[in-house]
Amino acid sequence: MCGIFAYHGQQQALPLLVEGLRRLEYRGYDSTGVALANGNEVVRFRTVGKVGNLHTVLPSDHPATKGIAHTRWATHGGVTEANTHPHASFDGEVQLVHNGIIENFRQLKAQLSAAGITCTSETDSEVLAHHVALGLKEGRSPEEAVAAVLNKARGTWGLCVMFNAHDALVCARHGSPLIIGKGDGEMFVSSDPHPLASHTNRVIYLEDGDLATITSDGVRVSRLGGQEVEANVTVLDNDWGESELGDSPHFMHKEIHEQPDALRHCIAGRVERTLGKGHLGGMKLTHETIVQTPHVKLLGCGTSFHAAEIGQMLIENMARIPSVAHISSEYRSNEPVINPKALHLAISQSGETADTIAAIKEIHLKGGQAFGVVNVVGSTIARLCGQGVYIHSGPEQSVASTKAFTNMVAALTIFATQLGRTGNLSRNEGRAIMEGLQQAPHLMEAYFDNPGPIDEAVDLLCNAKSVLFLGRGLSAPVAKEGALKLMEIAYIPCLAYPAGEMKHGPIALLEEGSPVVVIAPNDHVKAKTLSAIHECRARGARIILIHEKGDVIAEEGDVSIAVPAIHPLLTPLLTVVPLQLMAYRAAVKLGRDVDRPRNLAKSVTVE
Ligand code: AGP
Repeated sequence: MCGIFAYHGQQQALPLLVEGLRRLEYRGYDSTGVALANGNEVVRFRTVGKVGNLHTVLPSDHPATKGIAHTRWATHGGVTEANTHPHASFDGEVQLVHNGIIENFRQLKAQLSAAGITCTSETDSEVLAHHVALGLKEGRSPEEAVAAVLNKARGTWGLCVMFNAHDALVCARHGSPLIIGKGDGEMFVSSDPHPLASHTNRVIYLEDGDLATITSDGVRVSRLGGQEVEANVTVLDNDWGESELGDSPHFMHKEIHEQPDALRHCIAGRVERTLGKGHLGGMKLTHETIVQTPHVKLLGCGTSFHAAEIGQMLIENMARIPSVAHISSEYRSNEPVINPKALHLAISQSGETADTIAAIKEIHLKGGQAFGVVNVVGSTIARLCGQGVYIHSGPEQSVASTKAFTNMVAALTIFATQLGRTGNLSRNEGRAIMEGLQQAPHLMEAYFDNPGPIDEAVDLLCNAKSVLFLGRGLSAPVAKEGALKLMEIAYIPCLAYPAGEMKHGPIALLEEGSPVVVIAPNDHVKAKTLSAIHECRARGARIILIHEKGDVIAEEGDVSIAVPAIHPLLTPLLTVVPLQLMAYRAAVKLGRDVDRPRNLAKSVTVE
């Protein structure tokens, strides 16, 4: 996915565009570009690489008060300057930035060839710019010209178009987020709300099929079919949290250490200790609804899927309601049976993950209901579900998800007690869980005060051909999460496997000195996990052991890292933290771009 930022107002556009791109860079950072319009002169600057490279091609100053900008995550076409947005039309009359995929771009390109127009890039987006320019030549207005090509296009877009000979910017949204910020005598366009917060708190979330015509005085929103619609202004919640790096070396470091406070924000006001349960305002379910619930399905991708797997176990353990976690992309592809009485939880930090959005639409299509478990307020998944819970992690900008994971787990724990206490979960059991949850931030801070031999673990990991992560029960998804972190930011090949399953195959990978990370908190499966440790050690493996402080199992590790004791159902909140730190320090040691790892983006808004 990509980041779009645009400005139309009274201020110099250039610095606003660059700052907007900087705040959107986590959405993609293969290449970046800016186009500025000053009267009837339009200039364009593009470069491969991150937003920080733009200064090599940008002027130090420019009088233009209107412009569009883009930071790219490549989908069609390599990482080259020619493929960098903004794309210009054949006659220079149109500049366009686009986030999404135009599935029928080859047909649209063939129509251009027939008209004698040749594309200069490998991208799908460029064809839109040329078609808009053709529409202008046919006498259409800017919005008519944009609507004309979008009525022919198939796929997804969040786009913004600037014109040489017209004042307005024209934006459109279908499947990729686009938000308009309303200032005083100035207007902003952004792929998400982060960059707008420093300019305005009045925003308009464009819906799929919307077209918006923007001048410095305001905006007119219409449907692709032409009819004008109400531009609903939402007031952004300004205490979204600090999105600046501050004195942290990386966003990932900042966000790992923000977890205790993020947890507090997630839990605040959601615990009813005397009743031994939690409550999520956005997921009020009547007793009748809960007892009639045939099953719960939890959907997510990547880290969010790992949180979903933990949620599944917690709900079955506490509420005894059949639950299943699904990878969003697989769920929709496998013709799921949707029971309208079932509960579906769509879990997503960004709230913009295309695979999860597609799964929700499939559920709605078949009469199902979905609740969002989301971090970004007003995101597509939050609005598509229309119900659910915000996890209140604050802005998470490092591509590697950390504080969102622990907050997702906390929110799902609260939900599981909410369900459980209408059935089998006793008040005392529920109260113990809630008290443990409220303790978790303090215990996390205690761990940060004494993180243990992380660097020794990193030494074993950095020299490894591959790393095996093992866990059992609630620790199995934690093992997957640890493996994902190490893969995505340190680029070390990893395999995460349920500890009990390792002997059915992956044990063949082990040779003298192979590092194996084992998560073994003091829960009901610890003894079995210990057997797996012995099986690995018998084959020469070096064990990096995550265990509960004071547990004699520490002797079983070559490198043993202790986390504070916590309720057995809450162990993922603590056992994941050393894994995050190990991945972070390994990436730093290997000189990786920690917050912007290669080939990745923070939110994948393409399927
Ligand atoms: C996690 O570190 C990754 N960045 C990635 O797996 C991420 O969790 C996944 O893309 C889902 O994103 P979402 O939570 O925004 O839906």
